[in-house]
Amino acid sequence: MSQDTQLVKICSVSDLPRNGGKGFQVGSLELAIFQSDGKLYATSDLCSHEDEYLTDGWLEGNCIECPRHGARFSLDTGEALSLPATEPIQVFAVEKKDDDIYVAIPVKYLQAEGA
Ligand code: FES
Repeated sequence: MSQDTQLVKICSVSDLPRNGGKGFQVGSLELAIFQSDGKLYATSDLCSHEDEYLTDGWLEGNCIECPRHGARFSLDTGEALSLPATEPIQVFAVEKKDDDIYVAIPVKYLQAEGA
């Protein structure tokens, strides 16, 4: 894992659907947090095919299916599991402390734009 990350508090577990995802803008990053079968995942919210929001898609276990053309991605590795996507999505380390969810965000997304 890259050392250039910062642990950022994103939300509380109770802010998330029990089996589903929610999108967050963190700096310049469109971040998705998914909760599925009691596990938490943090990924890019944008499909690697044409930038559709994956949090509008269908969650099945550790896979998310894009709502636009149906590509499926592993939430564990970000790997594209079916066409038309061929590139992975980014995945981020996620930690739960009490009810709070923290994600290791690459600092490049946190730096002020145009500053
Ligand atoms: S935009 Fe996601 S599969 Fe095409």
